Amino acid sequence: MKIAVVGTGYVGLVTGTCFAETGNHVVCVDIDENKVNKMKNGVVPIYEPHLDVLFERNIKQGRLEFTTSLNDAIKDAKIIFLALPTPPDEDGSADLSYILGVADDLGKIITDYKVIVDKSTVPVGTADKVTAALAANLSTDLFDVVSNPEFLREGYAVDDFLKPDRVVIGTSSEKAKKVMGDLYKPYVRQGNPIIFMDEKSAELTKYAANSFLATKITFMNEIANFCEKVGADVDMVRIGIGSDSRIGKRFLFPGIGYGGSCFPKDVQALAKSGKEFGYDFQILDSVMDVNEKQKTIIVPKIKDFFKGDLKGKTIALWGLAFKPDTDDIREAPALYIINELLEEGATIVAFDPEAMENVKSKYGDKVTFVEDRDSAIVNADALVIATEWQVFRNPDFDLMAEKMNQKVIFDGRNLYDTQEMKELGFYYNSIGRILVRG
Ligand code: UDX
Repeated sequence: MKIAVVGTGYVGLVTGTCFAETGNHVVCVDIDENKVNKMKNGVVPIYEPHLDVLFERNIKQGRLEFTTSLNDAIKDAKIIFLALPTPPDEDGSADLSYILGVADDLGKIITDYKVIVDKSTVPVGTADKVTAALAANLSTDLFDVVSNPEFLREGYAVDDFLKPDRVVIGTSSEKAKKVMGDLYKPYVRQGNPIIFMDEKSAELTKYAANSFLATKITFMNEIANFCEKVGADVDMVRIGIGSDSRIGKRFLFPGIGYGGSCFPKDVQALAKSGKEFGYDFQILDSVMDVNEKQKTIIVPKIKDFFKGDLKGKTIALWGLAFKPDTDDIREAPALYIINELLEEGATIVAFDPEAMENVKSKYGDKVTFVEDRDSAIVNADALVIATEWQVFRNPDFDLMAEKMNQKVIFDGRNLYDTQEMKELGFYYNSIGRILVRG
């Protein structure tokens, strides 16, 4: 099948590459000439595990191409994926100007039947808006608009794409349903479903999924905070409730709040969408409030420890990315922690395996960056853990005892066993578990 993918951001790039991998011919189009030239030379513009191998292979085998010309990209394509940004407006609603702009352009250049697919996360009713934009210049016989949200996790995007839990396809056209069903067949051979539904339900499915997951995490964060007040252990509570199959074990890990490019944006957009339609999503307003507070919950703990004065204290910071296996720092709790610690006059020495360049460009020399985990702790008065990278899971505690000014850890990701930390004589303050005073 011939496919065009408009937009080579995270979603577009993974989508295009993975469709090429199963034998389709994919042309990706982007307005950024510099980026297109780099991709033509085999440079993947984002960090995502396994993507580079697939990217290189499919370019070499001629199934994956790049261009800046929308016209060239769509000429032979039967399906056109729109994978364009939908950044939040000032008021939190999703900005559709990129998508509607391209829909308008497409309406002027399409000459034979195409399936136009909204891959970006878009509010309910967007498929209708895209249809209207196309129909302004194009006969409705020559296109169908489909909503096909992605459920890719950063760090696992290739795997999630090639072996999805489910594929959601929203369309009221039988013709488009057949085209999309054929395209996705190779990805659901293991028996996971392709769920066909109307466009609006598909659009809402994406927001509902992300908002539900964000709510689940936030609920656990509040339970963890309460555990600290009453002296309960959130790990036990987590296992206790997660064994109920209606609740499930996954996504119950408390921490310093969710971040990333999806959850914060989507929860906000769904809440905003609700208000537009006269529905007040009270639960989402609370989720956003609680998460904002959770991102800095560790700072008052640090201040308490240092009796309110962080001036002249050196804090080692392990982890900057919003989660492991990505260089993405969007809405990362680490940034909130950095801001507050700097305000308090602390010196920060940070290490992250992938995200340091991104943070450097924001903070310059306000933060000291080091090239490995163990250099960060030298002469530190405390260590703060903000991201659960594997490399932080099994540190050399003897080295820490030797190199740090004192054995003090504030762990925002609950990486270590509290009993073990007690035995090692550390002050260890984690989320929702007993405080180990060292
Ligand atoms: C998410 C969705 O999982 C994906 O389906 C959607 O398409 C895009 O948004 P992603 O943003 O890559 O993916 O991250 P994810 O792994 O889901 O984690 C989101 C946030 O929740 C991270 O900040 C993570 O640290 C946090 N989290 C996750 C917790 O705090 N506790 C958990 O138990 C799980």
